[in-house]
Amino acid sequence: MADALNGLKQGLTHYGDAGFSLFLRKAFIKAMGYSDKALERPVIGITDTFSGYNACNRSVPDIIEAVKRGVMLAGGLPIEFPVVSVHEAFSHPTSMYLRNLMAMDVEELVRAQPMDAVVLIGGCDKTVPALLMGAASVDLPAILTVAGPMITGSHKGERLGACTDCRRFWGQHRAGLFDELEIEEIGNKLAAGPGTCMVMGTASTMALVSEAMGMMLPGGAAIPAVQADRLRHAEATGERAVMLASEKLRPSQIMTKNSLANALRVLQAVGGSTNAVVHLAAIAGRLGFDLDLEELDQIGAETPVLVDLKPSGRYYMEDLFKAGGLTAVLREINHLIDKECITVTGKTLGENMAMQPASWPNDVVRPIEDPVHRGGGIRVLRGNLAPKGAIIKQAAATPGLLKHTGRAVVFTSLEDMADRIDAPDLDVNADDILVLQNAGPKGGPGMPEAGCMPIPRKLAVAGVKDMVRISDGRMSGTAFGTVVLHVSPEAAVGGPLSLVRNGDLIRLDVEEGLLELLIDESELVRRRSEWTPPSHTHVERGYAKLYFDEVLQAEDGCDFNFLRAKPREVLSATSG
Ligand code: FES
Ligand code: MG
Repeated sequence: MADALNGLKQGLTHYGDAGFSLFLRKAFIKAMGYSDKALERPVIGITDTFSGYNACNRSVPDIIEAVKRGVMLAGGLPIEFPVVSVHEAFSHPTSMYLRNLMAMDVEELVRAQPMDAVVLIGGCDKTVPALLMGAASVDLPAILTVAGPMITGSHKGERLGACTDCRRFWGQHRAGLFDELEIEEIGNKLAAGPGTCMVMGTASTMALVSEAMGMMLPGGAAIPAVQADRLRHAEATGERAVMLASEKLRPSQIMTKNSLANALRVLQAVGGSTNAVVHLAAIAGRLGFDLDLEELDQIGAETPVLVDLKPSGRYYMEDLFKAGGLTAVLREINHLIDKECITVTGKTLGENMAMQPASWPNDVVRPIEDPVHRGGGIRVLRGNLAPKGAIIKQAAATPGLLKHTGRAVVFTSLEDMADRIDAPDLDVNADDILVLQNAGPKGGPGMPEAGCMPIPRKLAVAGVKDMVRISDGRMSGTAFGTVVLHVSPEAAVGGPLSLVRNGDLIRLDVEEGLLELLIDESELVRRRSEWTPPSHTHVERGYAKLYFDEVLQAEDGCDFNFLRAKPREVLSATSG
């Protein structure tokens, strides 16, 4: 047993004397057929996020094989172990409701089982945040790789991608442009293979910001799932994990306040998913600091959107890969990022960038002087309707609606919206503002991606493409429209959003960062005195009880209160 790297001794449970405990542990691991020689190597755990329900992680078994090869090449012993795997489409009531369960699973299994370092393999939206949250809390040397984006499909010569085009074509089907047969045909082409949604959705965004934070080897975020480079990246990740184990470089040394700021910068520059704001807040909370929404806003004001990907642009992740991936983006915002942040390579972000091939002009990553959108992707809003903040993805919004005052048309829950949104007698005009209550962390539960409410059918048929929509829910990173999200505090805990009534006037001014309910304070006080919490938030048992008792609001990443770290001095802004 090597002394410096003795994974098998990690967290040794005591059955009698320590020698006997190790003897017992070795006896059981030898049931796997390992020799003593194999067990002398550093143990590298590999999280297995494959699941028959997780289409996006279909290729994870191949990635695991490549990681194992890398670990063996570098002299380690790879041991894979299953963790919870959450897919967007198969997670009732929401994938976000289950993210913390996965994060707890990752934390406890990495801590409980003997390993010197861990390779985290993520993919679908919630898996990367859950892996990083768990790894941040354990703080064992860890390195991330991802399943990678899907390649695009095609319908009648037009490129298709999950799931921006899912929404676009479904909207057109609702408006009567496609019959059942054609929409079925399109459904066969939207998710064209293994891997994650290939637009700038949450999975792509989290992969890119994780690489920017330094938790992934350079170049890994954008490689398509089916490309051979994906497996070479996985092999290199396994090799590097063995070095990390001996260097003892920990997630808390990599995911610092400054590298989180780099992540926010990249989030804005790639026009990333609003969901990343919630996930980065949760990761920050695990490391002992708050994600500063003012800082996000400030960074947004300085950072234009440079990456021309759907839903706000034209291209797909495979195009970003061919255009040089994240490095091409980082070079454009070179003067705005902190290049001293240490990464999983053991080198700084700046050193990593210098080692990547030179960038070249292309249409996908635009030069900073000719951006896709000048003002940054995400803007933070405040006002009496959102005292703790709300956000809007302005790059995906209709410019003419960014300053708008309108009459509220209120839906009190997701069910209420589903029941009435298409009713021919719904009192709604194109200038109105659709308001959805009780779609927040507790209300949804899990902040369902319902914030991008459908345009009421009678308006959609008349050609209305966008309206101002406001909720305490989230929006898929693949969606678009003038959609105000993450209103906090949420309606289900009595936030001002719960007090909005049909016909109230609401003012949105994105440039000013304002979201105001134009109602007398006395009337709000009266309404507040009549408010009662929704009954579904009172739960007696199981994970649901834990969830409703402990879940925090959007600005704290919807993590559980007891999972946040106590503030750590070492992570203050000055020490980075
Ligand atoms: Fe898995 Fe989109 S559904 S990444
Ligand atoms: Mg998504």
